[in-house]
Amino acid sequence: MLSSSVLKVSVLTTLIWCLLSAAEAALLGGNCKQNSDCNAKLSECNVHHEICTCKPYSVEANSTTCLPGSLLGFSCETDAQCRIKVPTSGCVNGVCACGDGYVAYRRHTCLAPSKLGDVCFENEQCTLADKASYCKFVVPKVFGRCQCQVGKEFSDIMHKCVGTNTRELSSFFTLTLITNATAGILFYFIFSDDDLVKRPYSVEKDKSDCKSHSI
Ligand SMILES: *[C@@H]1O[C@H](CO)[C@@H](O)[C@H](O)[C@H]1NC(C)=O
Repeated sequence: MLSSSVLKVSVLTTLIWCLLSAAEAALLGGNCKQNSDCNAKLSECNVHHEICTCKPYSVEANSTTCLPGSLLGFSCETDAQCRIKVPTSGCVNGVCACGDGYVAYRRHTCLAPSKLGDVCFENEQCTLADKASYCKFVVPKVFGRCQCQVGKEFSDIMHKCVGTNTRELSSFFTLTLITNATAGILFYFIFSDDDLVKRPYSVEKDKSDCKSHSI
């Protein structure tokens, strides 16, 4: 009678211990020997470390849930879900999108802006770097290089595409004129200052000193 109740208690405690350890193993970061030991959503057993982790291309939301990675345009709850699939992307209003200053390319890439002459895959890549440029495709719909729009030319001075029509050209020349005039005035003020005016005097004075000595 006594031994039977002791047995019952020990069976019960073992059962409770098993349940508790099973519940613990279910959490992310909990110990495991095999995948079935991990109960968190989208988790698996990292057999090397014997710890429950999120499956590849999923991210930890909390100790009981891993969220799947999401491509551009697909639904998300956290930035990490987007970023694990597409660098420089994030979760915006529940959908994965490229970060500011990046251009979405298909579902899997956020492109950085492209400078003139650089390789481009989307028009927007060029216009982000220079509004008056576009992607001139070398292989249609595949890739090209950023160039100035038709009727615009690259200005070495302004380092961007500028219009070649008269109005823009004249304003460009006006700017050049103002720049040169300003430079001229500055040059006058700097070099007409004491330095250059006094130096010839002092040289002559020295010379005359020499002469007076030699005489
Ligand atoms: C864990 O995250 C999931 C997904 O965001 C959510 O549905 C769940 O309620 C969270 N659980 C806890 C305990 O915070």
